[in-house]
Amino acid sequence: MVTQQKKINAAKLAITKITSGMNIGLGTGSTANELIKLLGDNPVLKDKCRFACTSTQTELLAKNNSIHIEEIDNFNYLDLTIDGADEIDHNGNMIKGGGGALLREKMIASISKNYIIIVDETKYVDKLGKFPLPVEIVKFGPKSTITLLKNIFSEYDLYPEIKIRMNDNGSHFNTDGGNLVVDCYCAELHSLNEIKTKIESVPGVITSGLFINMASSMILGEKEKASEVLFK
Ligand code: 5RP
Repeated sequence: MVTQQKKINAAKLAITKITSGMNIGLGTGSTANELIKLLGDNPVLKDKCRFACTSTQTELLAKNNSIHIEEIDNFNYLDLTIDGADEIDHNGNMIKGGGGALLREKMIASISKNYIIIVDETKYVDKLGKFPLPVEIVKFGPKSTITLLKNIFSEYDLYPEIKIRMNDNGSHFNTDGGNLVVDCYCAELHSLNEIKTKIESVPGVITSGLFINMASSMILGEKEKASEVLFK
């Protein structure tokens, strides 16, 4: 309950960053959902802004709140994207993809002039890696992709267990793009840029959940208020 209130407080400050006429990217997850619900209650912003989504899950919630969603290709750029994160460090580097939306989240973030991350304080960490790093991979040969990923991590003295993400019914989790996600249990990460570059150059990898040097700011939701930390 308290955690939910922190997410709501973060979303309440985030919505004040949206002004009429903006092109907005909508993130994925329980924190981003709070923003979408607030937008649903705001007829002016809902009608005077244009919106793109980072997942089918977000699109559904937006539509249920009478928010009109457009294809990403309708936009040359977005003024602002507001999204959650699984972990964010003091430089604004993040692990994302806990909800499996990492590819679309990264694509939407990449065309955004301003990228605000909304989190509660449990996500704000000194070092990334306690949260398992999601990596989106193709369905062809997941075992060989996992072996290549393990080889990369071992170059950095990291020996994570790497598991294919499963649904509760025992089937493989599929992303919106129809790909698999593997979760890398590293415990602690370092050399973020190097590891990200190497992981993302493996042929079977689509993208990683490492979002480096992308966030403009973070809004930290607390019990009774929210505050913004600027990164750029
Ligand atoms: C989904 C994400 C989410 O932003 C992340 O998982 C945070 O979600 P929540 O706000 O529910 O904790 O990256 O792919």
